[in-house]
Amino acid sequence: MTLPAHFSRFSPAFAWSTLLVVALLATGCGKKSESASTAPSHVASKAIQVKIGFLVKQPEEPWFQLEWLFADQAAKDLGFTVVKIGATDGEKVLNAMDILAAGGTQGVVICTPDTRLGPAIVAKANSVNLKLLSVDDQFIGADGQPMKNVHHLGISAGKIGENVGQILAGEMKRRGWTTADTALCAVTFEELATAKERTEGAINALLAAGLPANRIFKAPERTADIPGSFDATNVLLTQQSAVKHWLVCSTNDNGVLGAVRALEGRGFGADSAVGIGINGTDCITELEKNKPTAFYGSILLSAKSHGYQTTEMLYHWIKDGIEPPLDTRTVGVLITRDNFRQILKEQGVRN
Ligand code: GLA
Repeated sequence: MTLPAHFSRFSPAFAWSTLLVVALLATGCGKKSESASTAPSHVASKAIQVKIGFLVKQPEEPWFQLEWLFADQAAKDLGFTVVKIGATDGEKVLNAMDILAAGGTQGVVICTPDTRLGPAIVAKANSVNLKLLSVDDQFIGADGQPMKNVHHLGISAGKIGENVGQILAGEMKRRGWTTADTALCAVTFEELATAKERTEGAINALLAAGLPANRIFKAPERTADIPGSFDATNVLLTQQSAVKHWLVCSTNDNGVLGAVRALEGRGFGADSAVGIGINGTDCITELEKNKPTAFYGSILLSAKSHGYQTTEMLYHWIKDGIEPPLDTRTVGVLITRDNFRQILKEQGVRN
């Protein structure tokens, strides 16, 4: 991994340093020329100093660390300040928004820990005058529908899921596995719309490729992380002990990694199982292993669009009044052991 060491794992020290930054901003420390009394007269009518908050639901996940990394890059290139906060529950989100607004922040990019918090987050943003852009996970309104009036940047989840399914179908064929002894393990997290669209997309593509519906098994994970997927897959493997070859899809890399670990525990490896992740950022160590595992590849998403472009759009909205499009969708590209080094380099994810 080429992430800076302090990004490689979520740590209490990291959490405290984040809080400290927030506290400093709130109390005004670290401000250079904002206060009229201290600002030199020639900058008194200067352009506004833009400050943007970037809140993510799972700060320990490399995907979100990369979004932050690219947000930092945008801040450096364009000359604004970005405040990164791990907001793992609703209370933390709303508190962070209060603190950010009090510290002079004008806008927030957020991947919410729960999409049903959407209406509360919008109400808070309006009350403290923060511009808002959701990233990754689109807000869900009180009517259970996506809040299409909130600016959003996310992936084309259904299409990316279909791509996963098509690749799995191709790998099954290439290996000469039959539908009689092969089955799909879909590690699902259906309470999150983007996650559901991904696994549904993969399932539909496999059905279209001829995998019978009775060879498709869902393993619902309680938490969208490696342990959640590991547990869900173990339950399924106990129930379906006759399957000889497993195809694996999930909402993201961690969903597939947990399943691959559970499969290994039952004796399945690269010769008898094949999994395709989504993100492409949380599986780098896996692809670097000397010996291939059942984790065959991943759809690499554009962390740069999600971190750089989101903050850039918010910056221009705050500074120049240019409102971003309401809905922006990004795509992905397959990485495998054969090409991941080259593609990650091209995308600026590693050197
Ligand atoms: C969700 C997932 C993340 C990542 C993003 C991409 O938030 O939890 O792992 O896949 O979507 O938009």
